[in-house]
Amino acid sequence: MSEETKGTVPAKVGVLGGGRMGAGIAHAFLISGSNVTVVEANPQAAAAAKERIESDLAKSLERGKIDGNLDKWAENLSVSLEHSDFAECELVIEAVPEIWDLKVSSLQQVEANLSENAWLATNTSSLSVDGLAAELKRPERFCGLHFFNPVPASKLVEIVIGQQTSDELQKLTLEWVAGIGKTPVTVNDAPGFASSRLGVALGLEAIRMVEEGVASAEDIDNAWCSVTSTPWARSRSRTSWAWMCALASRSTSNPSSAPASHRRSSCATWSNAASWARNPARASTTTRSLHSGSPA
Ligand SMILES: NC(=O)c1ccc[n+]([C@@H]2O[C@H](COP(=O)([O-])OP(=O)(O)OC[C@H]3O[C@@H](n4cnc5c(N)ncnc54)[C@H](O)[C@@H]3O)[C@@H](O)[C@H]2O)c1
Repeated sequence: MSEETKGTVPAKVGVLGGGRMGAGIAHAFLISGSNVTVVEANPQAAAAAKERIESDLAKSLERGKIDGNLDKWAENLSVSLEHSDFAECELVIEAVPEIWDLKVSSLQQVEANLSENAWLATNTSSLSVDGLAAELKRPERFCGLHFFNPVPASKLVEIVIGQQTSDELQKLTLEWVAGIGKTPVTVNDAPGFASSRLGVALGLEAIRMVEEGVASAEDIDNAWCSVTSTPWARSRSRTSWAWMCALASRSTSNPSSAPASHRRSSCATWSNAASWARNPARASTTTRSLHSGSPA
């Protein structure tokens, strides 16, 4: 980010889907002064989203992580079931589950309800921003804004630039990410963007090391933890492994577009890791040992 980039936030922000990520994104903009409208799929999900956002704000305040007024934030938050409530938003960020058809139909519905000057972003972690843009009427007003979990504690936001994303949106996203006190990284649309691609390369290397009997999963974790604070084999959730397998398969199903580090991965390794992610009890010895800490 250039030194001149100023942090500002849109006056009105919309968030589609108030689950884990959507609630965190709403939290980030509320504490930075935006009015936030969250649109959910049904009344139960809407009530849960409101409760999640308000209780996370209260927790952050209690822990002294943020300053502000809970009543004011509650006043600035609305949760609804109507896409038309996005009509006055300057920016809407989509955070529905990572399902292609759901993303496409949701983004198209949101786009149809936006003003001409509004911007649209997706929080997808693994789908192609260019692919999603191709399904929209105004792809130049669309990009990826990849927040990390948990949003309140994570500094990084990847700004994913599609081939048709306008220069103006690229500039605005830098201002917005700075405005919510986070660190922007700008990356062109590519499988895994920047952070996840690095993560997959690291995870694959850890899997290969266990597979080759170089060290136990626990020792590889300990080695890694001595230089960073991220344990890989022990603390990667099953969801994370399933997601990483999906991302690597996306690369390996089209080897010519896969990053070199992903191309080197063995099919057996991935199918074992994918089995573990689906059902740890049925995964092969190699993959189980990765997670139990014993060498292959
Ligand atoms: N969880 C993570 O660690 C993480 C990190 C980065 C990015 N992401 C991405 O963020 C997105 C959301 O993930 P999440 O973990 O918050 O999921 P989640 O399941 O916690 O939340 C999704 C929310 O979307 C709502 N929803 C579903 N269909 C909807 C619809 N048609 N209209 C409005 N709302 C709808 C659900 O009710 C739910 O509240 C995904 O694309 C995911 O890949 C997740």
